[in-house]
Amino acid sequence: MIFAANFKCNLTRAETRAYIDTLGQKRFADDAHIFLFPPATALDRYDTPFTIGAQNAYPAHHGAFTGEIGLQQLSEFEIETVLIGHSERREILGESQAFIAEKYRFFQEAGYTILYCIGEPLAVREEGDSAVADYLMAQFEGIDTDYERLIVAYEPIWAIGTGRAATSEEIAATHAMLRKEIDAPLLYGGSVKPDNAAEILSIAHVDGVLVGSASLNVESFTKIIISIDRIK
Ligand code: 13P
Repeated sequence: MIFAANFKCNLTRAETRAYIDTLGQKRFADDAHIFLFPPATALDRYDTPFTIGAQNAYPAHHGAFTGEIGLQQLSEFEIETVLIGHSERREILGESQAFIAEKYRFFQEAGYTILYCIGEPLAVREEGDSAVADYLMAQFEGIDTDYERLIVAYEPIWAIGTGRAATSEEIAATHAMLRKEIDAPLLYGGSVKPDNAAEILSIAHVDGVLVGSASLNVESFTKIIISIDRIK
């Protein structure tokens, strides 16, 4: 099972270090694989068993890309994991599918583990399962889904940060549809909390969770990780 924490634009460098130290003192099941995505200013070469990834990066080694970080900056901290395609970057930062696919190709070539996010808006969900399937599959345009270091996260936009997770039926149907097309581990994200994590993790074809708000507090993320013990 994969437990990924996306801090988004939250926590300072000092807070991130304290978080990693505290989480590192906990004991988790051997099959709990933990990924942390701190903001770029908090990336570092941490002495930790957890995988540290970047929330975003530019598809270049280095260069004249004001405000961006590239492979050179990530390599300084031995970062080899990147999150690509998050709906906040698609919607708020206006990243196109073509640009997302370019990033994907670049970081695939660099051998990175890629946590690739997809998710539909509410209007599409309201049209039903087949509209959702079409929308999600279009988000794989230009993406090599056979890449062996790919992890996919299904995050319905209407469930992100709203406190309203998708229902078990919605997650089950969507993950079953994705599993027919894609071999990679499939995570669910969107209002995952300590009190719904066990139920979500026990759904077929859910291989883990990607957590935003409920990961910001280390005790809350810990509760989510230890919910693995309740689904065995
Ligand atoms: P929330 O857990 O805050 O809904 O965010 C989910 C998310 O976007 C993780 O990438």
